[in-house]
Parts: sequence; C-alpha cells; structure tokens
Amino acid sequence: MSKKVVEIQEPKGKLGVLLVGLGAVSTTFVAGVEAIKKGLAEPIGSLTQMGTIRLGKRTDNRSPLVKDFLPLATLNDLVFGAWDIFAEDAYEAALHAGVLERDLIAQIKPELQALKPMKAVFDQHYVKRLNGTHIKEGKNKMELAEQLMKDMEDFKQANGCDRLVLVWCASTEIFLTTTPEHDTLESFEQALRDNSPAIAPSMIYAYAALKSKVAFANGAPNLTLDVPALMKLAVDNGVPVCGKDFKTGQTLMKTIIAPGLKARYLGLHGWFSTNILGNRDGEVLDDPESFKTKEESKLSVLEYILQPEIYPTLYKDFSHIVRINYYPPRGDNKEGWDNIDIFGWLGYPMQIKIDFLCRDSILAAPLVLDLALFLDLAQRSGMRGIQEWLSFYFKSPMTAPELYPEHDLFIQLMKLKNTLRHLKGEDLITHLGLEYYD
Ligand SMILES: NC(=O)c1ccc[n+]([C@@H]2O[C@H](COP(=O)([O-])OP(=O)(O)OC[C@H]3O[C@@H](n4cnc5c(N)ncnc54)[C@H](O)[C@@H]3O)[C@@H](O)[C@H]2O)c1
Repeated sequence: MSKKVVEIQEPKGKLGVLLVGLGAVSTTFVAGVEAIKKGLAEPIGSLTQMGTIRLGKRTDNRSPLVKDFLPLATLNDLVFGAWDIFAEDAYEAALHAGVLERDLIAQIKPELQALKPMKAVFDQHYVKRLNGTHIKEGKNKMELAEQLMKDMEDFKQANGCDRLVLVWCASTEIFLTTTPEHDTLESFEQALRDNSPAIAPSMIYAYAALKSKVAFANGAPNLTLDVPALMKLAVDNGVPVCGKDFKTGQTLMKTIIAPGLKARYLGLHGWFSTNILGNRDGEVLDDPESFKTKEESKLSVLEYILQPEIYPTLYKDFSHIVRINYYPPRGDNKEGWDNIDIFGWLGYPMQIKIDFLCRDSILAAPLVLDLALFLDLAQRSGMRGIQEWLSFYFKSPMTAPELYPEHDLFIQLMKLKNTLRHLKGEDLITHLGLEYYD
C-alpha cells in the first residue's frame, strides 16, 4: 500500500532536452517529435505517450494514459539542443544517418535546420574511430567542464527554458574502470585540473550537468557517471540520474525471452548472439576497445536473469557469446541472429532461432523521449541520485552499490508503473488478486 502523495511541482514553461551527440539516435528522436507534433506520425514505442496505467482493482476500470495520470511535460514544451564533434545541423545529420525517409525529413526541414550543435568536448583517445573538427579547446578538463556549464546556462536563457535534462546519445567510449581519481568530489576535481586520463569526455559532461543541477541519462555503456564521486554529487545536488546503454535490439529480446524460459524451468546450454550493422555506431564498435565496453554491457544480462547460483542444474556454465560485426551495406537496419540451445524434461535438447531485422534508432528514439520526460518528472518530485525504476530502458541498469541490477523486462515494467502509482499515492499493484474470490 502506498498512500503518501509525493509533492510534484507542475511542469511550467519549456523543458530543454540537451543531447550529447547529434547522430542517428538523436536525429531520429528529434525528427520524430517534430513529425508527431505536426500530426505526421504516431509516438509508437513510447510508454509516456501511448502507455496506460491500471489503478485500483481490476473491477474499477480505471486505466488512464500515463501522460494524463502524471504531470509530464508535453511534446510542445520541448526544446532541443545538442553537442557534436561535427558541425552539421540536425537536418544534414538526419540525412547522413539515413534512418528516416527523405520525404519525412523534408517536411520538418526548418525545425531540424534550427538545431545546430554546440562544439563538443572530445578526445580521440576515448573513441578511436572518430576524428571530429567541431571541438572545444581548453587548458585542462576543468576548463572544458566550465565551458559546458556555460553552454547549458546560455541555452536555457536563449530558449527561455524553465528546466533542462541531458541524454548521452554520443558514441561509445573505450572500456574504463573506476580508479582512485573517481572516489571523491575532491579527487575528481583535482583529476579534471590535472587532465588525468581517468576522466573521459563523457565524465566531463556528467560533471558539468550535475554541477548545473541538470538530470542526466546515459544511453551508452560508458562508465560516465557510474563512479562514487559523481553519484554523491548527484545526491547532494538533488539531481536524478540513470543509465546505462539503451535496451533496444538483441538485448531487449534477451530480457523478454530469458525470463520466460526461467519461468518454465527450461535449462540453457548456450546462447550465441551475433549481428551485422553498418551505421556510425557500428563503425565505432568495430574498435576492440569500444566493443569491450559494449560487450560487458550485453553479457551481464543472462547471468542476472537466470541466476545459475540458485539453479545450477538448469543454468550452471551456460555459454554466452555476443558478436557485433560492422557491415556497411546495412546502415542502421541491423540484423541480429540468436541461437539458443535449451533443454527440457529429462534433459532433451531443443533450439530456438531468432532473426531480428530491426532498426536500431527507431527502437532507441522513443526511449530518449521517455527518459527525458521521466527524469524531468523525477526532478520535480524531489527524487535524486540513481533512478532504478528507469532500469526498464537500459541494458546495464545502474543500482545502489550493494544491489544487483534487475534485468527482467516485466519486473522492470512493474517497478516503473508502481513507482508512478507511488508518486500519486495510489495502491501499488501486487497481482495477488485473492480479494476477487473472497
Ligand atoms: N541505437 C540503438 O539502438 C542504441 C542502443 C543502445 C545504445 N546506443 C548507443 O547510443 C549512442 C548513439 O548511437 P547512434 O546510433 O546515434 O550513434 P552515431 O554514431 O550515429 O551518433 C553518435 C554521435 O555522437 C557524436 N560524438 C561522439 N563523441 C562525442 C562527444 N564526446 N561529444 C559530442 N558528440 C560526440 C558523433 O560525432 C556522432 O554524431 C552510441 O553510444 C550507441 O552505442 C544505441
């Protein structure tokens, strides 16, 4: 039961959505919102726009739309900003990404042309396959962070925004782990001034956002804000954060199917996933150091869902392999194959084959929208630090240090909706349902 109503500030005025990276995902998101606003398309795939939420008993027939139940910013309230290492505006970048049809892009050309990226904080050491020209200069990383803070303030003023949120939609950086520089705010700030290699560009954006009290969602698997110094800064500054790595194609399928196999106590010998994609993300991930960051993010999912330590007969030592192959002809239209070797009653083996012809950015764009709106809601509701209820959107959900992440898509959805009910003081739904048979 949850009866305490949380005080939620009304969403007055404009919400600035700042995107790091103006590539395939960002332009598909912005173009999509503009197209939807003009009535050219529907917000398919977005829980905030299409989802409903059941309230009370099943016999009550109360299932409002999520966006009517909670005070979310509307699509008309959104203003977009971005940083990129290339100076192309969103119109050119959308054409370059090749996700959306030229006809659709032409109908929103003025809106897209108006979105010109700010100069980025970038260092090729962290993304080997990119070489940009539209990059900030500064004498150290602290100075770059200060420039980003100024960008945010200027953007807010210039666009008359009441609030800002930031979503990382830039390329995947090389694999990094936590080092002593990341321990405390003091050590982190010293490392910024010392130009320490432990501080990746994404961390500079995260620091700048948190200092400016701007909520941050991390759509890539980079370490970024998942370090003690920045977690503490988020809590101290009252900023909600979430990540990492949008859950879209193959991993989305994994977190749909694996809970089903486990629910029926079907065993697993192995799961082999491979895919081909040819967009810029694929090119970046072709570098072994960026791929390692992605691989770690993709591999953890099955272990957590299947819990081999609790079910050794079913899941001990299953083999799990993930490959990504850069194959230019496919562009953003990825093809992902999964071969799943399972076993049933008396150990008899069976196989499942999946061939998912997906569109990466079409799957990711609605997640950017939902995350921007929900992070803004969280901030107006006084929620700060890690927003575990947004795990639904991520391959590697961030959690408190002592917790393991929840990967099962259906548990994640229940958690998300119960958080929304909790915010409004509605009863949580447990699906017990005995009262219908009393
Ligand atoms: N599309 C999906 O389904 C999906 C799923 C999970 C994660 N992601 C992640 O989302 C991110 C974006 O994907 P995408 O397909 O749009 O890639 P993309 O290559 O089309 O776009 C990324 C953009 O970021 C820019 N960039 C790189 N470093 C930057 C920096 N430091 N500052 C500012 N801009 C920078 C690049 O120039 C590029 O324009 C990638 O990290 C990808 O791994 C995507």
